[in-house]
Amino acid sequence: MAKTGDKWEWIVGQTPPPIDPHSKVKHQLVRDYLYKYINVLMANAKMPRLRLTLIDGFAGGGLFTDGDGIAPGSPLVMLQTVREAEAYLNASRTQTPREIDAQYHFVELNPNGFEHLKYTLNGEGYGPRIGKDIALYNRAFESVCSDIIAATAARKAGQRAIFLLDQYSYDDISMPTVRTIFENLQGAEVILTFNVDSLLTFLTDSEQFHSITRRIGLEPYINWKDIARLKANSRWRQIIQRQISHGIWKASGARFMTLFFVTPLGNRPWSYWLVHLSNAYRANDVMKTVHWDNGNSFGHSLESGFFEIGYQANKDVDVTFQNEMDFSEAAPFDAILRESSIDKLKDVLPRMIHQNPNGLAFNDLLCQIANQTNATEKIVKESLHEGVLTRDLQAFIEGGGVRAKGTSIRGTDILVPHRQRSIFLG
Ligand SMILES: C[S@@+](CC[C@H](N)C(=O)[O-])C[C@H]1O[C@@H](n2cnc3c(N)ncnc32)[C@H](O)[C@@H]1O
Repeated sequence: MAKTGDKWEWIVGQTPPPIDPHSKVKHQLVRDYLYKYINVLMANAKMPRLRLTLIDGFAGGGLFTDGDGIAPGSPLVMLQTVREAEAYLNASRTQTPREIDAQYHFVELNPNGFEHLKYTLNGEGYGPRIGKDIALYNRAFESVCSDIIAATAARKAGQRAIFLLDQYSYDDISMPTVRTIFENLQGAEVILTFNVDSLLTFLTDSEQFHSITRRIGLEPYINWKDIARLKANSRWRQIIQRQISHGIWKASGARFMTLFFVTPLGNRPWSYWLVHLSNAYRANDVMKTVHWDNGNSFGHSLESGFFEIGYQANKDVDVTFQNEMDFSEAAPFDAILRESSIDKLKDVLPRMIHQNPNGLAFNDLLCQIANQTNATEKIVKESLHEGVLTRDLQAFIEGGGVRAKGTSIRGTDILVPHRQRSIFLG
């Protein structure tokens, strides 16, 4: 084991670096997300094959020490999860097996880390696949990103790609690069780590930070002239976080985003974000489900249920001179957050539906609120349940009929506000 600065290094022949709690959480999330998403995409049992490209842009050396044992790094997590998902899809199948036709691109800049990754893959039996379905790059991710995009785009019906960009800090990946991914690959998704705390702690209105944030594409989203003043406010982190999270979303060009803290149990302060960007609502919903499934490992510091991102003057204590701002304390994805999210949505959603007197398709509602809520589709349905029972709103089924329960609402249902109640709500 060797250390350079505060970072462990992988060196072939030496014990791999110890895994930190954040990486364990990240690996669990990648495993759960990939497994669930493959199952969602293959939900139609008649689909014979899923073509998928998995990119690990900051791959590391492939293995960690975990107590007395060994833990896989993210490239092995991807390879193992695809194998397990495929085995599950074929578990009780007697006809032609269903296939996950995956291609992998693993990028690692550090030469020692890269050698260790190759050594690990060989040791785990993946050696013969290198140069076939596994491509390795000893380069900076940004210098090979366009080649990877081109290779992914060239696969027939194969633009479905998940990019895991697990940088150490916040400035090894620029938002324009992420935007290029979305501009060129219809089915792309990006899972990005972003150490927001290391940016915020030192952030000042200085040439140094203008230049860093310009390089990563976030400079225009920060309200620079207010930083010094905001830093005197005890809630300044949350205020600036809103601006940066909004910037990541806008600059990435992705339609949907989830952005929450990775918070291994007992690990405070909440230092970095796990960001998921996609153009598909379904992917966004699966990621939210994974956050709730691993509730204690993820945290949320915006309002429960429904929140705004970006700069909001009315949330800035020095602008409003109010102390009862609506900033929540950072909270895990637990039963309390679930309850308060449902309560908030019970109030907000009927008002939104009311703004569409001719009705609003449930799918459109979900897409409309996706970036402003921590709630999964299931939770959104629960929050509509009371309104449906009391007939504050009605869910009309395509082809005829009305839902009796909010929890049975389907995507194509049209939600219509009850006329008289609507007048009251308005
Ligand atoms: C957080 S570690 C990755 C850990 C790995 N994803 C895992 O979970 O097993 C980040 C890795 O990115 C590598 N790296 C740093 N800058 C890079 C760049 N620009 N392109 C590709 N790799 C880079 C580092 O050498 C380090 O191994």
